[in-house]
Amino acid sequence: MAKILLGVCGSIAAFKAVDLASKLTQEGHLVRAILTQNAQKFISPLSLDYVCRQKAVLAQFSGADFRLEDDHIALADWADILVVAPATADILGKCACGIADDVLSTVALALDMRIPRLFAPAMNHRMYAHPLVQKNIRTLRELGYHILPTSSGHLACGHQGEGRLLEVPDILQSIERLLEEAENSIES
Ligand SMILES: Cc1cc2nc3c(=O)[nH]c(=O)nc-3n(C[C@H](O)[C@H](O)[C@H](O)COP(=O)(O)O)c2cc1C
Repeated sequence: MAKILLGVCGSIAAFKAVDLASKLTQEGHLVRAILTQNAQKFISPLSLDYVCRQKAVLAQFSGADFRLEDDHIALADWADILVVAPATADILGKCACGIADDVLSTVALALDMRIPRLFAPAMNHRMYAHPLVQKNIRTLRELGYHILPTSSGHLACGHQGEGRLLEVPDILQSIERLLEEAENSIES
């Protein structure tokens, strides 16, 4: 059983995060979802609240609703792994530059560097091929972040090409592999 922070960004593929969270909880993991403000335009936090059996984190400054356990440092201290699926060009760029202007990007920066970070990108094929996006992916990989490939095919925008979010079973497999590696490195 692992404690998984699941970041969800503003992409058409955001709905797949609900299935991912559901499968992770069915496997016995504890999942806390963090939705960017733009992710909340694509899916309702209620779906994630329900499958995670935990309130999703929606904002860094939530006023009267603020809960200490939603603080970025508390979230970073809690997590065994950060998974961002779908990861937008925006979050990849922010993380590659050390920008921390919302709860998800701040948590990504506040995590101990030994905690695995897994990003599953999803975007239009031209965005994905853009040299800046590719440079950000390389930068993150050099830092030890795990950036999954995308798949090729029909994109929600109507184009064909590279940039589709990997299928949920493939993302799950990568999460389990990383958790196993992290456990083995603690034991050795
Ligand atoms: C209909 C629609 C679909 C979008 N899909 C994606 C996407 O799949 N990937 C991406 O990087 N950006 C996508 N965007 C743009 C992002 O939502 C935008 O860059 C936003 O600033 C991302 O914010 P976030 O990373 O904080 O969630 C989409 C925008 C719209 C309006």
